[in-house]
Amino acid sequence: MNRVEKPEESEGTASAWALMARLFRDYVGPRKGALILAVLCMAGGAATTGILAWILDPAVKTIFFEKRTDMLLYIPAAVVAVVFLRGAFNYGDSTYNNEVGQGIVADTQRDMFRALMASDLERLNAIHSGKFVSNFIYDATMLREAVTKGVSGLGRELLLLIVLAGVMLYQNWRLTLVSVVVLPVIGLAAKQLGSRVSKASTQSMKETGELSSTLSEMLDGRRIVKAYGLEEHAIARADEKIARRLKYLLRGIRARALSVPVADFVGGLAIAGVVFYAGYEGIAGRLELNQFASFLAAMLLVQQPVRNLSQLWTVTTEGMAAAERVFDLIDSKPHIVDAPGASALRIAPPPLGGRVAFKDVKFSYAGAAAAVNGVTLEVPAGKKVALVGPSGSGKSTLFNLLLRFYERDSGTIEIDGQNIRDVTIASLRRAMALVTQDAFLFDESVAANIACGIPNASIDDIIAAAKGAAAHEFISALPNGYDTIVGEGGLRLSGGQRQRISIARAMLRNAPILLLDEATSALDTENERLVQDALKRLMKGRTTIVIAHRLSTVLDADRICVLEQGRVVEQGRHEELIARGGLYTRLYQHDFQDDNARPTANVG
Ligand SMILES: Nc1ncnc2c1ncn2[C@@H]1O[C@H](COP(=O)(O)OP(=O)(O)O)[C@@H](O)[C@H]1O
Ligand SMILES: [Mg+2]
Repeated sequence: MNRVEKPEESEGTASAWALMARLFRDYVGPRKGALILAVLCMAGGAATTGILAWILDPAVKTIFFEKRTDMLLYIPAAVVAVVFLRGAFNYGDSTYNNEVGQGIVADTQRDMFRALMASDLERLNAIHSGKFVSNFIYDATMLREAVTKGVSGLGRELLLLIVLAGVMLYQNWRLTLVSVVVLPVIGLAAKQLGSRVSKASTQSMKETGELSSTLSEMLDGRRIVKAYGLEEHAIARADEKIARRLKYLLRGIRARALSVPVADFVGGLAIAGVVFYAGYEGIAGRLELNQFASFLAAMLLVQQPVRNLSQLWTVTTEGMAAAERVFDLIDSKPHIVDAPGASALRIAPPPLGGRVAFKDVKFSYAGAAAAVNGVTLEVPAGKKVALVGPSGSGKSTLFNLLLRFYERDSGTIEIDGQNIRDVTIASLRRAMALVTQDAFLFDESVAANIACGIPNASIDDIIAAAKGAAAHEFISALPNGYDTIVGEGGLRLSGGQRQRISIARAMLRNAPILLLDEATSALDTENERLVQDALKRLMKGRTTIVIAHRLSTVLDADRICVLEQGRVVEQGRHEELIARGGLYTRLYQHDFQDDNARPTANVG
């Protein structure tokens, strides 16, 4: 993540305002209607609550002192009406408020996901999936809390406070003064507890992320966990994180729970003070009972908004911390973007088009030694070139550069004479089909998995591609044929089946350039033979660059490039390279020996 430098404490407050302003502009703004309705309902709720407190004054006066029986009917009827209205206002307040709040959650999540999809591969690689997922869910929720509880809550509670304080002042301003002396005490306690709550909640958020990382890691590694009997180890790791999370959660809950009795106790002190002073005033004949009843009701009702206001601090600070993370993600811009004025890549129809040329290309991953160190190599249109070399020699990196997953540091890469930096990324990637060793499938139907990238492919096209990939037969035998859902990551299929589906995907894409990165290395011999046949059909008429894990599969390549430590050290046809007796010969001999002993040896 492109984290902004940690701001100074003072700037932190200023930027909290900026964050809040942005939150309102971008996410609350579009829901102005609902927000206005919520505010109107809030005002209604505050007013009816005030009436409820005030009504005790005429009630006591007319019923108890004046003994008017007609009021015995009117006052309760009025109370019922007011209570009903108050309920309706509160309902409206709560639903409109949540409509705004949940809308913010949905909108920020949508924007975060978009930003995520636009990110460079480098950044996606760096994201810790479990932690990210939990942040993705919780940060948006905390934003909602900040808006619904923090901001509209502030409005509601302040309104209520003002109305009730108004009733209190109207009844007796001296009593009101007595009761408000305790407010600063409540405020102070609230701030103290609030910072404890927010610290604990930040920590428990972090632990939630850790837990969700552990969980997804264990699910991803389920086979290894079972096979190596690592269940206890996994349990211990999870237990530790669960326990830590619990500790912080409880710490937060205790601080939060303490804030209620503290506020109540201080409120109780105020009541005691008021009763004392009211009694004194009453005995002196300066306060009527009906006024006192109304005053006391208002004072009891005011406890709730005071208590809620005291929690605002926490919710808002947490929310703004979340907002910072959310906006950080939303604002992150990919580094690899279309050059200004980039045009679409133009490729001549096969067999003329699709020539790939690397010219003195150098590249190193961030902070690492050069992975590609001056590679010059040409793949003529419609030909098949193999990249071989020891593991880590830079073969896959060449694909990463060709696809512009990463930007080369120097040198040029051209397709049909066009520098790949000058063409649009979409058109560049559309010209290529990548098949890797880990055939990735989405948890959708087989047909959807083949058609992905070609949204309007007909079922006939899909079947034709599957036939070409030697996949039609096994797909037809699946319980729902092409409509079978493959399970997360293609769980319900074998490795060879998954690979043939991904080859069908590449067939359907019908791209002029084909990139095969150890496409068959995860397969057994029988599956490998099937997949190799499928690949042969796929390669026909296309420029193909193949990274082979077994040299026997590339003997027929038009050219073989041997890489070592990011450099091309030899190139030529198989016989020429064998005749040289260099690295290729050693790799080949090694492979050949292994081939006899272990059919799936890997030199890639
Ligand atoms: N995403 C990455 N981040 C950092 N270093 C990487 C990354 N991918 C590969 N490397 C390093 O770059 C070098 C070349 O890797 P790679 O191209 O994957 O080799 P090959 O495909 O030939 O086995 C290796 O030293 C490897 O450790
Ligand atoms: Mg590789």
